[in-house]
Amino acid sequence: MIRVGVIGTGALGHAIASSLAAHSIPGVELTAIAGRPYSPRDIDALARSWDCQATTEPLTMPGSGANLVVEAAGADAAKQYAIPLLQAGCDVIIMSTGALADMEFVTELKRVAAAVSRRVYLPSGSIAGIDGILSAMESGPVAVRVTTRKRPEALAGAPHFTTSGIDVLAFERETTVFEGNAQEAVAGFPSNLNVALTLATAAGSFDRVRVRIIADPKAEFTTHQIEVVAKSGTMTVEMVNRPSASNPRSSWLAALSAIATIRRLASPLRIG
Ligand SMILES: NC(=O)c1ccc[n+]([C@@H]2O[C@H](COP(=O)([O-])OP(=O)(O)OC[C@H]3O[C@@H](n4cnc5c(N)ncnc54)[C@H](O)[C@@H]3O)[C@@H](O)[C@H]2O)c1
Repeated sequence: MIRVGVIGTGALGHAIASSLAAHSIPGVELTAIAGRPYSPRDIDALARSWDCQATTEPLTMPGSGANLVVEAAGADAAKQYAIPLLQAGCDVIIMSTGALADMEFVTELKRVAAAVSRRVYLPSGSIAGIDGILSAMESGPVAVRVTTRKRPEALAGAPHFTTSGIDVLAFERETTVFEGNAQEAVAGFPSNLNVALTLATAAGSFDRVRVRIIADPKAEFTTHQIEVVAKSGTMTVEMVNRPSASNPRSSWLAALSAIATIRRLASPLRIG
C-alpha cells in the first residue's frame, strides 16, 4: 500500500490530495496533508472531508503512516523537507523543481536518497517529452530549446522585470522578454520556470537548455514548445496547457502529472 502525504493545499496540492482521497488509484491512500498555520484554506476541514490527518509540520507526516510525500508547496519547502523526509523513510515527489537550481541541494538529495535506499521522483509537470529526452541522451548529450509563451499577467512580478524596469503589462503585441540558459531563466523568473529546471535536470546540464520567454497579450493559454537535437534524431513537443482552476499561474497538467506518477508507482506495468 502506498500511503501518501501532501505538503501544500494550493492549486496542485488540493488537486492531488482530493484525487487520492476519492480513491482514484487502487492501492494508494491519502494519510495526511500539510498546510501553513494561517493558510486561507482550512486544512482541518479539508482533512475531515478527506478522512486524513492535518498538520502544519510536514516532518510529522511519516507518523501518519505516509511512505510517499508529495511536495507541492514551493522551492523553499522542497529544500527544507525533502531530505529529512527521505531520512524518515519516505519516498518524495518534488513538484517545485525550481529547488533543483541549487546544485548543493541536488547533490545532498541524491546522496541521502542513495544512502537510505529511498527515491525522489520529479513528475514531468507542465510538459511532455522527458521520456524522449532521456532515451536520446543514451546516444550522447542533447541540446534543448524551450520557448514559453504566456500572457503578460502570468509573467508580471518576476524579478527580471523588477531589475530591468520593463513594464510587461504595457506590451500590446507579442514580445520576447528573455533569452538565456536555464540557470539565468530561474534567476529572472523563479516562479514560472519549473519547466526549465525539469528539462535541465533531465538533460544533465543547465547549459544544454536554452530558454526563450515570450509575453503575448493575445495568448489564450500558456504554451511550451520544446525542441531537442540529439545524435539519435530530433524531437519537437508543443504543449498548450489549460490553467489550474484555482491558480491561473499554475497548470492543470502539472497536478495531473503528479497523480500519474503515483499511479505508475502503484502499477505493475511501467510505460515509458
Ligand atoms: N513541475 C511543474 O511543472 C510545476 C507546475 C506548476 C507548479 N509547480 C510548482 O509547484 C508548487 C505548488 O504550485 P501551486 O500552483 O499549487 O502553488 P499555490 O501557491 O497554489 O500553493 C502552494 C501552497 O503551499 C503552501 N505552503 C507553502 N509553504 C508551505 C509549507 N512550508 N508547509 C505547508 N504548506 C506550505 C501555501 O500556503 C500554498 O497553499 C510551486 O512551487 C510551483 O512553482 C511546478
